[in-house]
Amino acid sequence: MTLVDRDRLGALLADEAERFRASHPVSAQLASRRGEHLVGGVPMTWMRRWATPFAITVERAKGSELVDVDGHRYLDVCLGDTGAMAGHSPEPTARAIRARLESGGLTTMLPTDDAEVVADELTRRFGVERWQFTLSATDANRFMLRTARQLTKRPLVVVMDWCYHGTVDESFVVLDGALTRSRPGNVGPAVDPATTTRAVPFNDLGALEAALADRQVAAVLTEPALTNIGIVLPDEGYLEGLVELAHHYGSLVVLDETHTISAGPGGLTGKLGLRPDGVTIGKAIGGGVPIGAWGLRAELADAIVADRDADLEDTGGIGGTLAGNALSLAAARATLTEVLTERAFDEMGAVSHELVRRERALLADHGFDWSVVELGARSEVRFVSPPPRTGADSARAADVDLDRYLHLALANREVLLTPFHAMTLVAPTTTLAHVETYLDALADALAPLAR
Ligand SMILES: Cc1ncc(COP(=O)(O)O)c(C=O)c1O
Repeated sequence: MTLVDRDRLGALLADEAERFRASHPVSAQLASRRGEHLVGGVPMTWMRRWATPFAITVERAKGSELVDVDGHRYLDVCLGDTGAMAGHSPEPTARAIRARLESGGLTTMLPTDDAEVVADELTRRFGVERWQFTLSATDANRFMLRTARQLTKRPLVVVMDWCYHGTVDESFVVLDGALTRSRPGNVGPAVDPATTTRAVPFNDLGALEAALADRQVAAVLTEPALTNIGIVLPDEGYLEGLVELAHHYGSLVVLDETHTISAGPGGLTGKLGLRPDGVTIGKAIGGGVPIGAWGLRAELADAIVADRDADLEDTGGIGGTLAGNALSLAAARATLTEVLTERAFDEMGAVSHELVRRERALLADHGFDWSVVELGARSEVRFVSPPPRTGADSARAADVDLDRYLHLALANREVLLTPFHAMTLVAPTTTLAHVETYLDALADALAPLAR
């Protein structure tokens, strides 16, 4: 790992924080007002995670750019951490939203003619045939796990060490040696998640088999590449082996493609031709409007619908009054069929690849032995080389101060990185000129560190 002088880093962080305060007076004033009636001074407490001394207040965003109330125009490679991967307010999605608003009926407890089109499109991309909609990817995962337990009559789930699948109780675990434990900081768990879940290291089929062998596991829930602890790519054959092992022991496989859709129109499932039992997704497919979706293989969907012990129609634990609403589905139809098209993915992949290629060269020029992991339209810097193969390896490579510095220094140079990752996401609206902007800002931020 490249060593960075900690005293210099501390001084640089202080300078950047000062520079930010001085150049964001309107955001500062609004942030101080927000403290009165918002918990933690923000609409959601995770917004405190931005490295800036206070949150930037947004005026507007379009395509890959965002303008704040102080008049700064940023290149946005955070893109609502995937919620705006289609670009901010893409025109076809905006048109569909306007049309739905004008025709009236945003949420009626009845289907419109958009649901079938969205489900067809998701089937074409991900292979599983029957879909349901939610308001978030978190809910899609929650309902999928309930369904898996109901179908298999088994109590447990397997997830990967250092995974993140939204605020899904069963997934808040990490490995402590060989033991599964509640993840540090887990807020008020209803039950100890170690009683519902077994964690295994990513890319370790031996550990997976040990977790499945007693046939107590309803489902293995995983991202096909981990994306919430840096990006950890699957070893060749790992995912195919995972599906085979799970099926051998009678467990279902659920692939969470919420972030990994960056790999292509059908995520890694489509790209690698995987055959999971379920797929969950959310964020990007609504073009910025809340939506989640979970899809099952046809025979599993038929089995759950035929299950007389499963109350799918009232208070059986799968619900959401606004889920499947007309607005979300109108937005998803336009986003999937007109914005996040196959061609758009090709272009996004090419722009992202150029960014990664140049970023690797830039890091090497500055003497930083860091890795940049690429997953289609998404890439991420990790302060270690070679790239980690497990969540725990990647967690060990974390460097809180360095991470904060890069985020803050880039914000001061009008580039927004997602607060949780040193991740760059490319939308269909991100151009090679944006790549230049990003690299110039990064070079400027790295120069005093490398000195
Ligand atoms: C892989 C994955 N799944 C699910 C979610 C949950 O998404 P949401 O917070 O929109 O429910 C996230 C959020 O970051 C995620 O990274």
